[in-house]
Amino acid sequence: MTQTNKEILETLNFLNQKTDNFKPQIVIVLGSGLGVFSQGLDGIKIPYKNIPNFGSSNVQGHKGELLFTEIENKKCIVMQGRFHYYEGNSMLKCTFPIKVFSQMGAETVILTNAAGCANPDFKPGDIMLIKDHINFMGNNPLIGPNDDSLGTRFPDMTNIYTKSLQQLALNKAKELDIDLKEGIYLATSGPSYETPSEVQMYKSFGADVIGMSTAPEAIVSKYLNMQTLGFSMVTNFAAGIKKDTTLSHQEVIEEGKIAGAKLSKLIMSVLADI
Ligand code: HPA
Repeated sequence: MTQTNKEILETLNFLNQKTDNFKPQIVIVLGSGLGVFSQGLDGIKIPYKNIPNFGSSNVQGHKGELLFTEIENKKCIVMQGRFHYYEGNSMLKCTFPIKVFSQMGAETVILTNAAGCANPDFKPGDIMLIKDHINFMGNNPLIGPNDDSLGTRFPDMTNIYTKSLQQLALNKAKELDIDLKEGIYLATSGPSYETPSEVQMYKSFGADVIGMSTAPEAIVSKYLNMQTLGFSMVTNFAAGIKKDTTLSHQEVIEEGKIAGAKLSKLIMSVLADI
């Protein structure tokens, strides 16, 4: 048994005991600004710092807690904040919770993040359906010994983001009169924001938005054969897209709240029909 497998089992046992064997169907990972999603939801809450083998997350705008709850009659685990690579967590740590939740029975993952837009047709406050991603983090969460019981050594990444879930999200956005953009998410390691030249390069690669998360979890979800849906909340124009503006995390938090209110409504409505 690999070290990771031992850790998955240990964490699984801990969470099973704390939640009376909660059997999740869906995992929702909340990015900066989506705190509103879990407001008013009741359930079992467990701070990350109490969970064996979880990484550390100390970023402003993230709560650092798991919520086990029921939404629209679906059993959900809500990750209020995630483990970022730029915080010094290994790729394994960043994606460890997804592996544990998969073992608990979850078959669907909804990933959300804050991102800057490189596409000039987008603006802060918009939300974007992730159709595909570019992993430009310089690392991959599947590097290392492979456990064939979890997934294959060389997993296909053609359709990471499940087509039928994308269509459901688009239909629901229409019903709710939400202008849901569609595009490509490019993940960098961070924590520095991009230079304007890097943004131009990423744009030429095909990136519509740029962020510092999501790709590792999405790769692992696909590896584990889970259904995956992803959304970006556009919190700022990426560096150099509008002349003479500089970026701050405070701006990301504030704009994230605007996009977060819309995205929260959309995800609730998706959950009803998933
Ligand atoms: N770049 C990278 N990550 C981000 C940004 C950005 O402009 N905004 C929010 N997260």
